[in-house]
Amino acid sequence: MRLVIVSNRLPIVLETTETGFRTRRGAGGLVSALGPVLRRCGGLWVGWPGAEASDLNELNALLADHGRQEGFDLVPVILSADDISGFYRGFSNEIIWPLFHDLQSRCNFVPEYWTAYRVVKDKFASVVAANAQPTDFVWVQDYHLMGLGRRLREVGLLSRIGYFLHIPFPPPDIFCKLPWRVDVLDALLHYDLVGFQTAHDLDNFFDCVRTLLPAAKRRRAGDQFQVTYDGRTCCLGAFPIGIDFDDYGRAAASPAVAERAKQIRADLQVPQVLLGIDRLDYTKGIPYRLRAFRLALQRYPELHRRVGLLEVVVPSRESVPEYQDLKAEIELLVSQINGEFTQPGWIPIHYVFRSLEHDELLAYYRLADVALVTPLKDGMNLVAKEYCACQVEGDGVLILSEFAGSAVQMGGDAVLVNPYDLDFVAEAIRRAVSLTREQRRPAMRRLRRIVRKQDIYWWLGRFLGACGLSMDAMTEERRAKSKAAPLPV
Ligand code: UDP
Ligand code: G6P
Repeated sequence: MRLVIVSNRLPIVLETTETGFRTRRGAGGLVSALGPVLRRCGGLWVGWPGAEASDLNELNALLADHGRQEGFDLVPVILSADDISGFYRGFSNEIIWPLFHDLQSRCNFVPEYWTAYRVVKDKFASVVAANAQPTDFVWVQDYHLMGLGRRLREVGLLSRIGYFLHIPFPPPDIFCKLPWRVDVLDALLHYDLVGFQTAHDLDNFFDCVRTLLPAAKRRRAGDQFQVTYDGRTCCLGAFPIGIDFDDYGRAAASPAVAERAKQIRADLQVPQVLLGIDRLDYTKGIPYRLRAFRLALQRYPELHRRVGLLEVVVPSRESVPEYQDLKAEIELLVSQINGEFTQPGWIPIHYVFRSLEHDELLAYYRLADVALVTPLKDGMNLVAKEYCACQVEGDGVLILSEFAGSAVQMGGDAVLVNPYDLDFVAEAIRRAVSLTREQRRPAMRRLRRIVRKQDIYWWLGRFLGACGLSMDAMTEERRAKSKAAPLPV
């Protein structure tokens, strides 16, 4: 049995330069989480390579090369400039992304975006159908491709097909704003198994089904549910996604990362480092976080020269106008706060706007005394989990938004905050930095235990198990193959 992952993006992004393609790792939680899965199980990853392909031979050679290094195959879906504009920028990121994060006022319900979505769905379906075999498990990922399962059935694909939504699912009063709401809901019910991040997302989905598809019948089946509608039965469940804890922990404990962390800490010249790491995205609540930090500095002068905020913003979706505006807003706030408080020898905010090298990221996680993970809404938020995995000294504090999916698993031991409540967040910062290292340890120990236990392989095992499949069957296939031909390193 082979695993076929289908997501809008491949794990690497190609950028066109004057001399050909340049590659970089895709940003975001989906790529971070699924990379280790395919590296362990092998298989196929189908997705958009992130650039308009002028030279298909060069593209295929680059993907083959990357696949050899990673131990799985990459198959591109080629999108035109119109597809990228209407489907990726428009339908996915100007409609579904804001709507599903409860930010309906940011949606642009342009009818042509729906047309572009249908065209791109067909392109994905043709590539998947041409590459998948009946014994494969085809696993569609995330909000861009909710309707792909139904299309794959229409083109005659016989494989089992699962779907996992990495972002939240909204309640009916928000979902019902979507002009194509019935179509989207019905299409989701064509998968064999649909997974959500939390029980709350699953409940929202059921509420939408009850409102829009009253003929659908729901029943409990062990840990999961089944919905029967229009002669088909779909299984549904909540499967909180995790990270490869051991891999993060091992790498963060390495001498190279320890040395880098020590060096950065010395360069920052403050006793307590606060850390924020997010893609550039309005769902991450970065301006609110900066305002809360400013309030903390205004209200608690004892924090001056004692704390520094390392704020990393990873470039993302810069072609969407909302994201450009957000970048300008963040940069204005950072310069205002630094202008108001900087003193010789102390800068309150160190602002980084770029992608980090992996070791640099691990060093930031390892050295930070407090992580500020304050999204306005988030499916899971893997930064929160990665921070805990990299806290090898075990004395960091996690300040976590109650609106992140990860709050369900981690809320008992993180400092939970409402990111809109600036007073409360400012006070949480003051309290966190005033705790002694010994006071911080028990909560971090418990957090690390949870993230380790419910890691990415736990998630994979539960999802496959709900489909009647096992991870062993996947790795067995890979072992059999590796006996025939040694895997590339
Ligand atoms: N990350 C990244 N590039 C960086 C810094 C971080 O890709 O320069 C990763 C980070 O390790 C994490 C992911 O981006 O795995 C962010 O995932 P999260 O679930 O927090 O939010 P998302 O970006 O998926 O909305
Ligand atoms: C989030 C989404 C992913 C997406 C990533 C990066 O993690 O859940 O599906 O790939 O953001 O966004 P981008 O638009 O660059 O693919």
